[in-house]
Amino acid sequence: MLLNSHDYGREARRRLPRFVYEYLAGGAEDEHCLRRNSEDLARLQLLPTCLRDTSSVDPAIELFGRRWQAPFALAPIGLCGLVRPGGDRMMAQAAAGAGVPHVLSTASNVRLEALHDGPAPALQWMQLYVMSERSIAEQIVRRAKAAGFGALVLTVDVPVSGARERDARNHFRLPFRLTPRLVLDLLRHPGWLWRLARGGAPSFVNMSADGAPGSTQAQAALLAREMDRRLDWDSLHWLRRLWDGPLLLKGVLHPADARRALAQGVDGLIVSNHGGRQFDAAPSAIAALPAVLDAVDGRMPVLVDGGFRRGSDVVKALALGAKGVLLGRPPVYGLASGGEQGVAAVVALLRQEIERSMVLLGAASIGDLGRHHVMAAIPSHT
Ligand code: FNR
Repeated sequence: MLLNSHDYGREARRRLPRFVYEYLAGGAEDEHCLRRNSEDLARLQLLPTCLRDTSSVDPAIELFGRRWQAPFALAPIGLCGLVRPGGDRMMAQAAAGAGVPHVLSTASNVRLEALHDGPAPALQWMQLYVMSERSIAEQIVRRAKAAGFGALVLTVDVPVSGARERDARNHFRLPFRLTPRLVLDLLRHPGWLWRLARGGAPSFVNMSADGAPGSTQAQAALLAREMDRRLDWDSLHWLRRLWDGPLLLKGVLHPADARRALAQGVDGLIVSNHGGRQFDAAPSAIAALPAVLDAVDGRMPVLVDGGFRRGSDVVKALALGAKGVLLGRPPVYGLASGGEQGVAAVVALLRQEIERSMVLLGAASIGDLGRHHVMAAIPSHT
């Protein structure tokens, strides 16, 4: 029975070849940061208030003049096409159906222009990686602007790729090498293999304006996340000249960076450690959130991601003061389990869990949530 996002994770593990599942589920090095994300969320406790009228509960929020029907968005995920051919489109459509934003990754396998026949284009956001060849980023931003994307999300926590040792053990790199173990793995997952054979192997189609996948070298560079390490705060001026819509930084953890972003006129922050895939020594996102919120002091919206698996996890971040949450792996587990319907099911589940948590907390709207709902410390059991 698929009752929660954990069940979808197990279903994805069953349906996907090991190298694909581990690409999704894995983290950097010893995966401490990956575990910390959900462990710290689980440790945080919420203090219910009682006898509040919760006969109607509204989990909607508003950001940049747009209503989100639930306080979460779908995080950018590279290589969704490896999970399911057309996966990026399925994610975007499920998000649009639920009235929440979807962030398309630079490393997506669907051309960014191809998503714009959906019902709510402004809820479609574009994520940007700036690779050494800056002209690639420039043309992505120009195209995203022309296509009417609602916001640009610059990911700032990948100056170099994290050491994903599971990927290394699985020889997951380009050009791809077929080992006997891999052949066996593929044969054990005929459903996945059949879909890939029909839909075609994914490539990074947003690397060039005409949709040509570019050289294997350029594809490999994106898969290996070879980024422009000269990118700095001054580079934001370059980006601002290209993009005049809402600009968010994703991967901010330090309160000093939050202040700097505010001073530079950034429009929003996403507190994130990239789902534990980058720096294993980094704190959990939920632990880093309060100091960033204090630094920003309400002058800019702060979103957060990393380890959110239950509606109550989302409510915890909102009670601390986050504007909203990004969901990373859970919708992709839905995608692996049942395509667009699977994503929609996970999104609906999370929304139901959020609503139930709000009723149990005594909050009829997101505005009713506050830090008074969060237990300051875990009481000791003497
Ligand atoms: C990611 N993430 C990511 N982030 C980004 O800015 N651009 C990207 O292309 C990707 N690609 C990507 C692939 C996969 C397989 C995963 C799991 C993650 C990070 C993602 O947007 C988000 O920050 C985390 O996934 C949030 O953590 P949870 O919800 O997965 O725990």
